Amino acid sequence: MSRKRIIAGNWKMNMTPSEAVKLVEELKPLVVNDDVDVVYCVPAIDIVPVVEAVKGTNVQVGAENFYIEDKGAYTGEISAPMLVDAGVKYVIIGHSERRDYFKEDDTFLNKKVKKAIEAGLTPILCCGESLEQRELGVTMDWIRLQIKSDLAGVASDDVKKLVIAYEPIWAIGTGKTATSDQAQEVCKGIRDLIAEIYDAPTAEAVRIQYGGSMNAGNAAELLAKPDIDGGLIGGASLKAEFGQVVNA
Ligand code: 13P
Repeated sequence: MSRKRIIAGNWKMNMTPSEAVKLVEELKPLVVNDDVDVVYCVPAIDIVPVVEAVKGTNVQVGAENFYIEDKGAYTGEISAPMLVDAGVKYVIIGHSERRDYFKEDDTFLNKKVKKAIEAGLTPILCCGESLEQRELGVTMDWIRLQIKSDLAGVASDDVKKLVIAYEPIWAIGTGKTATSDQAQEVCKGIRDLIAEIYDAPTAEAVRIQYGGSMNAGNAAELLAKPDIDGGLIGGASLKAEFGQVVNA
Protein backbone atom coordinates (compact mmCIF):
# COMPACT_ATOMS: atom_id res chain seq x y z
CA MET A 1 0.00 0.00 0.00
CA SER A 2 1.52 3.31 -1.05
CA ARG A 3 -0.79 5.59 0.90
CA LYS A 4 0.98 7.44 3.69
CA ARG A 5 -0.88 7.12 6.96
CA ILE A 6 -2.35 10.23 8.52
CA ILE A 7 -3.10 10.65 12.20
CA ALA A 8 -4.94 13.87 12.98
CA GLY A 9 -6.06 15.28 16.29
CA ASN A 10 -9.34 17.18 16.38
CA TRP A 11 -9.05 19.32 19.47
CA LYS A 12 -12.64 20.57 19.11
CA MET A 13 -13.42 23.46 21.52
CA ASN A 14 -10.60 22.68 23.92
CA MET A 15 -7.28 24.37 24.79
CA THR A 16 -6.75 28.07 25.34
CA PRO A 17 -3.80 29.49 23.37
CA SER A 18 -1.42 29.06 26.31
CA GLU A 19 -2.67 25.53 27.03
CA ALA A 20 -2.29 24.74 23.33
CA VAL A 21 1.38 25.71 23.24
CA LYS A 22 1.98 23.68 26.41
CA LEU A 23 0.36 20.61 24.85
CA VAL A 24 2.39 20.97 21.65
CA GLU A 25 5.59 21.08 23.71
CA GLU A 26 4.53 18.05 25.74
CA LEU A 27 3.69 16.04 22.62
CA LYS A 28 6.79 17.06 20.65
CA PRO A 29 9.04 14.10 21.55
CA LEU A 30 6.12 11.66 21.48
CA VAL A 31 4.87 12.18 17.91
CA VAL A 32 8.13 11.95 15.99
CA ASN A 33 7.48 9.50 13.14
CA ASP A 34 8.43 10.15 9.52
CA ASP A 35 6.23 7.34 8.22
CA VAL A 36 3.06 9.11 9.28
CA ASP A 37 1.54 12.52 8.57
CA VAL A 38 0.71 14.08 11.92
CA VAL A 39 -1.83 16.91 12.05
CA TYR A 40 -3.28 18.99 14.87
CA CYS A 41 -6.64 20.51 13.97
CA VAL A 42 -7.03 23.28 16.48
CA PRO A 43 -9.49 26.05 17.42
CA ALA A 44 -9.11 29.20 15.31
CA ILE A 45 -7.63 31.23 18.13
CA ASP A 46 -4.90 28.62 18.65
CA ILE A 47 -3.79 28.48 15.02
CA VAL A 48 -1.16 31.22 15.07
CA PRO A 49 0.60 30.11 18.29
CA VAL A 50 0.40 26.41 17.32
CA VAL A 51 1.85 27.02 13.83
CA GLU A 52 4.73 28.80 15.58
CA ALA A 53 5.12 26.05 18.19
CA VAL A 54 5.32 23.17 15.65
CA LYS A 55 7.95 24.88 13.47
CA GLY A 56 10.81 22.49 12.73
CA THR A 57 8.77 19.41 13.67
CA ASN A 58 6.93 16.80 11.60
CA VAL A 59 3.56 18.18 12.71
CA GLN A 60 1.25 20.15 10.42
CA VAL A 61 -1.62 22.31 11.51
CA GLY A 62 -5.25 22.03 10.48
CA ALA A 63 -8.28 24.21 11.10
CA GLU A 64 -11.61 22.97 12.42
CA ASN A 65 -13.72 25.32 10.32
CA PHE A 66 -13.83 28.23 7.87
CA TYR A 67 -16.37 30.13 5.79
CA ILE A 68 -16.82 29.75 2.02
CA GLU A 69 -16.24 33.39 1.00
CA ASP A 70 -12.74 34.84 0.67
CA LYS A 71 -13.53 38.08 2.46
CA GLY A 72 -16.24 40.59 3.20
CA ALA A 73 -19.05 41.33 5.60
CA TYR A 74 -19.30 37.98 7.41
CA THR A 75 -18.87 39.02 11.03
CA GLY A 76 -17.13 36.38 13.09
CA GLU A 77 -16.01 34.19 10.20
CA ILE A 78 -12.56 33.16 8.99
CA SER A 79 -11.75 32.55 5.31
CA ALA A 80 -9.69 29.84 3.63
CA PRO A 81 -7.06 32.35 2.37
CA MET A 82 -6.66 33.58 5.97
CA LEU A 83 -5.96 30.02 7.10
CA VAL A 84 -3.46 29.46 4.30
CA ASP A 85 -1.65 32.70 5.12
CA ALA A 86 -1.43 31.61 8.76
CA GLY A 87 0.29 28.35 7.75
CA VAL A 88 -2.66 25.96 7.92
CA LYS A 89 -2.52 22.89 5.62
CA TYR A 90 -5.66 20.90 6.42
CA VAL A 91 -9.26 21.71 7.31
CA ILE A 92 -12.00 19.53 8.76
CA ILE A 93 -15.22 19.70 6.74
CA GLY A 94 -18.56 18.05 7.53
CA HIS A 95 -17.86 16.91 11.07
CA SER A 96 -21.09 15.56 12.59
CA GLU A 97 -20.92 18.23 15.29
CA ARG A 98 -21.05 20.95 12.63
CA ARG A 99 -23.72 19.10 10.67
CA ASP A 100 -25.85 18.68 13.82
CA TYR A 101 -25.29 21.79 15.95
CA PHE A 102 -24.62 24.32 13.18
CA LYS A 103 -26.94 22.83 10.57
CA GLU A 104 -24.32 22.56 7.82
CA ASP A 105 -25.93 20.59 5.00
CA ASP A 106 -24.35 18.74 2.09
CA THR A 107 -24.96 21.57 -0.38
CA PHE A 108 -22.99 23.93 1.86
CA LEU A 109 -20.34 21.29 2.58
CA ASN A 110 -19.83 20.76 -1.15
CA LYS A 111 -19.06 24.50 -1.44
CA LYS A 112 -16.65 24.21 1.48
CA VAL A 113 -14.81 21.28 -0.12
CA LYS A 114 -14.42 23.22 -3.38
CA LYS A 115 -13.31 26.41 -1.63
CA ALA A 116 -10.75 24.59 0.51
CA ILE A 117 -9.24 22.92 -2.54
CA GLU A 118 -9.21 26.20 -4.49
CA ALA A 119 -7.36 27.86 -1.59
CA GLY A 120 -4.79 25.06 -1.37
CA LEU A 121 -6.05 23.41 1.83
CA THR A 122 -6.49 19.66 2.13
CA PRO A 123 -10.02 18.85 3.26
CA ILE A 124 -10.56 16.19 5.89
CA LEU A 125 -14.10 15.37 4.83
CA CYS A 126 -16.13 13.65 7.54
CA CYS A 127 -19.08 11.33 7.13
CA GLY A 128 -20.85 8.90 9.39
CA GLU A 129 -24.14 7.38 10.44
CA SER A 130 -26.23 7.69 13.60
CA LEU A 131 -26.97 4.67 15.79
CA GLU A 132 -30.54 4.67 14.49
CA GLN A 133 -29.32 4.52 10.89
CA ARG A 134 -26.92 1.68 11.72
CA GLU A 135 -29.72 -0.27 13.38
CA LEU A 136 -31.98 0.35 10.38
CA GLY A 137 -29.29 -1.06 8.09
CA VAL A 138 -28.91 2.12 6.03
CA THR A 139 -25.33 3.00 7.04
CA MET A 140 -23.79 2.66 3.60
CA ASP A 141 -26.75 4.28 1.82
CA TRP A 142 -26.40 7.31 4.09
CA ILE A 143 -22.65 7.57 3.70
CA ARG A 144 -22.84 7.21 -0.07
CA LEU A 145 -25.35 10.07 -0.14
CA GLN A 146 -23.08 12.26 2.02
CA ILE A 147 -19.92 11.59 0.01
CA LYS A 148 -21.62 11.86 -3.39
CA SER A 149 -23.21 15.19 -2.44
CA ASP A 150 -20.12 16.62 -0.76
CA LEU A 151 -17.87 15.74 -3.70
CA ALA A 152 -20.24 16.74 -6.51
CA GLY A 153 -18.21 18.44 -9.23
CA VAL A 154 -14.84 17.84 -7.56
CA ALA A 155 -12.15 16.67 -10.01
CA SER A 156 -10.45 13.30 -9.55
CA ASP A 157 -7.00 14.87 -9.21
CA ASP A 158 -8.31 16.82 -6.22
CA VAL A 159 -10.01 13.78 -4.72
CA LYS A 160 -6.69 11.92 -4.86
CA LYS A 161 -5.24 14.42 -2.39
CA LEU A 162 -8.29 14.41 -0.14
CA VAL A 163 -8.67 12.81 3.27
CA ILE A 164 -12.03 11.25 4.12
CA ALA A 165 -12.83 10.48 7.75
CA TYR A 166 -15.42 7.84 8.58
CA GLU A 167 -16.80 8.76 11.98
CA PRO A 168 -19.84 6.84 13.19
CA ILE A 169 -21.73 9.36 15.31
CA TRP A 170 -22.50 6.77 17.99
CA ALA A 171 -18.76 6.22 18.51
CA ILE A 172 -17.79 9.89 18.94
CA GLY A 173 -16.91 10.80 22.50
CA THR A 174 -18.79 7.79 23.82
CA GLY A 175 -15.91 5.42 24.49
CA LYS A 176 -17.77 3.03 22.17
CA THR A 177 -15.48 2.28 19.21
CA ALA A 178 -16.64 0.61 16.03
CA THR A 179 -15.07 -2.83 15.80
CA SER A 180 -12.18 -2.95 13.37
CA ASP A 181 -14.35 -5.07 11.04
CA GLN A 182 -17.20 -2.55 11.12
CA ALA A 183 -14.78 0.32 10.45
CA GLN A 184 -13.02 -1.58 7.66
CA GLU A 185 -16.33 -2.47 6.01
CA VAL A 186 -17.41 1.16 5.76
CA CYS A 187 -13.96 2.49 4.81
CA LYS A 188 -13.84 -0.09 2.01
CA GLY A 189 -17.37 0.92 1.01
CA ILE A 190 -16.19 4.53 0.74
CA ARG A 191 -13.21 3.50 -1.37
CA ASP A 192 -15.46 1.43 -3.64
CA LEU A 193 -17.75 4.44 -4.02
CA ILE A 194 -14.79 6.64 -5.04
CA ALA A 195 -13.83 4.01 -7.64
CA GLU A 196 -17.42 4.05 -8.88
CA ILE A 197 -17.68 7.86 -9.14
CA TYR A 198 -14.10 8.36 -10.37
CA ASP A 199 -11.77 5.45 -11.13
CA ALA A 200 -9.52 2.87 -9.49
CA PRO A 201 -6.38 5.06 -9.28
CA THR A 202 -8.38 7.80 -7.50
CA ALA A 203 -9.83 5.29 -5.04
CA GLU A 204 -6.36 3.83 -4.47
CA ALA A 205 -4.91 7.27 -3.72
CA VAL A 206 -7.54 8.78 -1.42
CA ARG A 207 -6.75 8.41 2.28
CA ILE A 208 -9.54 7.23 4.55
CA GLN A 209 -9.41 7.65 8.32
CA TYR A 210 -11.49 6.15 11.07
CA GLY A 211 -12.64 8.37 13.93
CA GLY A 212 -14.67 7.69 17.05
CA SER A 213 -13.15 6.89 20.44
CA MET A 214 -9.88 5.86 18.82
CA ASN A 215 -7.16 5.57 21.46
CA ALA A 216 -3.89 3.92 22.39
CA GLY A 217 -5.70 0.68 23.13
CA ASN A 218 -7.54 0.17 19.84
CA ALA A 219 -5.50 2.14 17.27
CA ALA A 220 -3.16 -0.67 16.20
CA GLU A 221 -6.01 -3.06 15.40
CA LEU A 222 -7.97 -0.42 13.47
CA LEU A 223 -4.88 0.76 11.56
CA ALA A 224 -4.01 -2.81 10.56
CA LYS A 225 -7.06 -2.91 8.30
CA PRO A 226 -6.32 -2.49 4.59
CA ASP A 227 -8.69 0.42 3.94
CA ILE A 228 -8.06 2.38 7.16
CA ASP A 229 -5.23 4.81 6.43
CA GLY A 230 -5.28 6.75 9.65
CA GLY A 231 -7.35 8.22 12.41
CA LEU A 232 -9.16 11.39 13.39
CA ILE A 233 -8.81 11.55 17.14
CA GLY A 234 -10.82 13.68 19.55
CA GLY A 235 -10.36 13.08 23.27
CA ALA A 236 -7.12 11.10 23.02
CA SER A 237 -5.47 13.88 20.98
CA LEU A 238 -5.42 16.17 24.02
CA LYS A 239 -2.99 14.08 26.03
CA ALA A 240 0.30 12.21 25.86
CA GLU A 241 -1.65 9.15 24.69
CA PHE A 242 -1.78 10.78 21.22
CA GLY A 243 1.87 9.83 20.80
CA GLN A 244 0.96 6.16 21.20
CA VAL A 245 -1.74 6.47 18.55
CA VAL A 246 0.74 8.07 16.12
CA ASN A 247 3.18 5.23 16.69
CA ALA A 248 0.54 2.49 16.55
P1 13P B 1 -13.41 11.09 20.04
O1 13P B 1 -12.07 10.53 19.66
O2 13P B 1 -13.35 11.95 21.26
O3 13P B 1 -14.48 10.05 20.08
O4 13P B 1 -13.82 12.10 18.87
C1 13P B 1 -13.75 11.67 17.57
C2 13P B 1 -13.97 12.83 16.67
O5 13P B 1 -15.06 13.38 16.62
C3 13P B 1 -12.85 13.31 15.88
O6 13P B 1 -13.25 14.23 14.94
